[in-house]
Amino acid sequence: MATFDLQSILDAYGPDAGRDYAAHLNPRFHDLLRLVGFDRRFVRGEGPYLWDEQGSRYLDAIGGFACLSLGRDHPVLRDALEQSLRIAPPTLIQFETPPLAVALAESLKRFLDRPGDRVFFVNSGTESVEAAMKIARAATGRPGFAHWSNAFHGLTLGALSMNGAEWLRRGFEPLVPGCREVPFADTDALRAALADESVAAFFFEPVQGKGVIPHPPGVLREVAEICRETGTLLVADEVQTGLGRAGAALASRTDGVEPDLVCVSKGLSAGAIPLGAVLGSAAIFDRVFDSVERSVVHSSTFRENPLAMTNGLAVLHVLREEAIVERSARMGAALVAGLRDLAPTVPGIREVRGRGLMIGVELDPPALAIDMPGLANRTSTLVAQALVMRLLQRHRLLTQSTSKGSGVIKLVPPLVISEEDVDWIVEAFRESLVELARGRGAAVRGLIKMMRKAPGVVLREAVQ
Ligand SMILES: Cc1ncc(COP(=O)(O)O)c(C=O)c1O
Repeated sequence: MATFDLQSILDAYGPDAGRDYAAHLNPRFHDLLRLVGFDRRFVRGEGPYLWDEQGSRYLDAIGGFACLSLGRDHPVLRDALEQSLRIAPPTLIQFETPPLAVALAESLKRFLDRPGDRVFFVNSGTESVEAAMKIARAATGRPGFAHWSNAFHGLTLGALSMNGAEWLRRGFEPLVPGCREVPFADTDALRAALADESVAAFFFEPVQGKGVIPHPPGVLREVAEICRETGTLLVADEVQTGLGRAGAALASRTDGVEPDLVCVSKGLSAGAIPLGAVLGSAAIFDRVFDSVERSVVHSSTFRENPLAMTNGLAVLHVLREEAIVERSARMGAALVAGLRDLAPTVPGIREVRGRGLMIGVELDPPALAIDMPGLANRTSTLVAQALVMRLLQRHRLLTQSTSKGSGVIKLVPPLVISEEDVDWIVEAFRESLVELARGRGAAVRGLIKMMRKAPGVVLREAVQ
């Protein structure tokens, strides 16, 4: 019988994983990590923390791109997955009705308070968007889609067709035809875009992930009204906001709307096993799966596998038992308050915004004493990146700058952070902003110097 030793593989590949990643996977990504100082080796993760080889503890406010709602290595999730492997229900019979899929669908509908829905499981956020696009076309018989500017719905071809960033779309055209971009929160423009009744669905993120931008009050209610009037399905992409990240089970409900279709993923998986879902009314789903022959017209091999279903059930159990959604709202409010109190006392914070533990700190680059001719609108990106690097190097705080040109630091830590972690983040911002301003742009100049030597295309472009 074959034996398998995972630890020996980790021991063998760990020390040179960066170099070997460049050889086997993506050398330019490895360049990027080196450039921004993220080429360090973490050897342990628990809750919201990571530890490096020297035993130093870090606070992770990237949170696996906002999916690690329960932190790393949650004991209940680990136990649930071990149980699943031990009990070993027969997997992927395919022509079957898996009991764990039934249990998770029921539990998810209850958690999201959408009792009349059907559920379709997927393996990722972008797949939930792809599924919703197909469901919307089949249900309406219309070809088109509409989305806001600055939208992010994933990077597979359909979802990319609704992406607001030209640099992400470039090189992958032609995309799905009939996708209409509407200026963010401009309801007159939306009305015009939907007027010819050729659009199957309007997709929106309740809080835009890029830049952490919530809708102005009342906008989403008006959007829902316009969709109703034009027969367009309203699709909430709650891949990032859903299941507690934005301080509610569904962030769209905070804005007073009940979408026709809902996409969820990150918070349902909690980062342990890939998982996502689309929920929609029986009437909509019945128009897709409308005959015995077409009952499998949309599907994918791994979608109802027992490990993913077990994981989803355990995540919902912990979210309920440990009141995680409420905790996200409470800790998020404390963190926003801490950063807003800090803003008038240090240079460089223009605005702090967000919901729950999805928070954006928009910087004010001139206040950080940056004056570099020729950089034009790249300055804010560079300032944000310099701050991200200082937060990591001096304060062992992992953060990200959300998108090109925005100058926003995004904070999406696990929803299990404590008051001490909130203090950790606020103090890290205080010291780093004071020091960046005192350096009068030295950190940014150092960053540019490194970039000029870097072979990475993205980074060369960033300083052009
Ligand atoms: C709102 C939204 N939709 C879709 C996606 C894509 O999810 P995934 O990366 O799992 O494909 C993301 C990922 O960040 C997202 O934030």
